[in-house]
Amino acid sequence: MTHRCGGKDGRIVIEDDWPGYSLDLFTYPEHYCGDLQSVYIPHGVIMDRTERLARNIMDDLGDHDIVILCVLKGGYKFCADLVEFIKALSRNSRKSLPMRVDFIRLKSYLNDQSTASLHIVGEEDLSFLRGKNVLIVEAIVDTGKTMKALLKHVEAFEPKMVKVAGLLVKRVSSGVGSFPDYVGFEIPNRFVVGYALDYNERFRDLHHICVISEQGKTKYKI
Ligand code: HPA
Ligand code: MG
Repeated sequence: MTHRCGGKDGRIVIEDDWPGYSLDLFTYPEHYCGDLQSVYIPHGVIMDRTERLARNIMDDLGDHDIVILCVLKGGYKFCADLVEFIKALSRNSRKSLPMRVDFIRLKSYLNDQSTASLHIVGEEDLSFLRGKNVLIVEAIVDTGKTMKALLKHVEAFEPKMVKVAGLLVKRVSSGVGSFPDYVGFEIPNRFVVGYALDYNERFRDLHHICVISEQGKTKYKI
């Protein structure tokens, strides 16, 4: 049987017992010394996976206008890198993806706990989405409740189509929420930081996705 290249439904699955790489194998800023436990996903792996997601998105959505809706703040790195890869594909292949990039800000976490309320901050009038193909770009989806609420909000503006790209999806039991169409990595239900993901606004300036240490949690608790 011949192998079919170009399948799109996969994701990288990180198992529950994956401890991450030792911090000594990589570089990270001195100001986080002692605050981290391990490098969970190195930056280079994030980039390589994002490159493939860009290709999958281009295969599915190429040649039609698209509105990229970046979910801030955590999604800014993933969105910027994803857009760069899509731009490279548009330059170097016959397909192209004319895009508009917009931003929406959500806030639902305090310390490492999800709060019940979803706050949409900033651009609340999304009427420009009417009749458009929309790609929501989010760094992390855990229960999917936030995503479900956001989808409901976006769909009220009657876009033609809505897809979701999530860099990380957490394996959580309560599968009540919405699940992304494009997934980078499926990870265990643990709190990660870096690559724009924060713990009380810290660690966004970390290159890799890392696991925070108890010292780090205590130091930046509010
Ligand atoms: N890290 C940072 N922000 C988050 C996470 C996480 O693991 N889950 C939901 N928001
Ligand atoms: Mg946060």
